[in-house]
Amino acid sequence: MTVARRTLPWDWYSGAIPDNVVVDETAYVETSYSFRLYRSEEPVGMRIGRGASTYLGTMFDVGPRGRVSLGDYTLVHGARIICDAKIEIGDYTLISWNVVLLDTYRVPLDPAARRAELRCVPFRFPRRLAADVPARPVRIGRNVWIGFDSCVLPGVCIGEGAVVGARSVVVEDIPAYAVVAGNPARVIRRLEPKGGDRGC
Ligand SMILES: CC(C)(COP(=O)(O)OP(=O)(O)OC[C@H]1O[C@@H](n2cnc3c(N)ncnc32)[C@H](O)[C@@H]1OP(=O)(O)O)[C@@H](O)C(=O)NCCC(=O)NCCS
Repeated sequence: MTVARRTLPWDWYSGAIPDNVVVDETAYVETSYSFRLYRSEEPVGMRIGRGASTYLGTMFDVGPRGRVSLGDYTLVHGARIICDAKIEIGDYTLISWNVVLLDTYRVPLDPAARRAELRCVPFRFPRRLAADVPARPVRIGRNVWIGFDSCVLPGVCIGEGAVVGARSVVVEDIPAYAVVAGNPARVIRRLEPKGGDRGC
């Protein structure tokens, strides 16, 4: 049995949504170009929740064992998500443009090993880095806001309601409702959690 290609009627790119990506029927994917580097072979490589949106410039660079989940009403406005293990993004989270979330560096830290890896690239098809570097899952909680040009490094967990200031580099876990900024990101103040949702 052949399964129909899941193309997007409004898409400018001639790609399709990969079969192992579960997209809620109320979610919005601006372009299938976001999956140009997606190659997860997991049964479900990615989930995009209810009312979630991914816009132009978002790139899901997901390796064969990678799994990504975007929570309900989460909005990704042009981020690069590099995942070889697991990246979870909670409900109502806002990720601004040029943010990089990564659970792996994909290159060895040791200069000789890195040089050896770069020597292999020309002989691979497709031409890409494929070093065996361990990945450490990343978890972004609910209702988090990550400002533009920020970077979240492997193994980091960001708590519910936290805010990451523009151009920050998040190197360690961030507590819930903290506002952090800078490189490395440090807490600049704390927010009061307020209950109750306002409808739209
Ligand atoms: C994080 C942010 C929300 C904080 O706003 P705020 O609470 O009003 O913070 P303030 O402007 O009062 O700054 C508090 C301190 O943090 C510093 N700071 C604030 N944002 C910073 C940032 N992005 N990087 C480094 N330092 C920052 C300020 O210089 C100030 O330092 P000081 O106390 O030494 O003077 C805001 O600065 C920010 O970065 N917003 C992201 C905007 C964005 O990405 N928009 C994209 C649209 S989705």
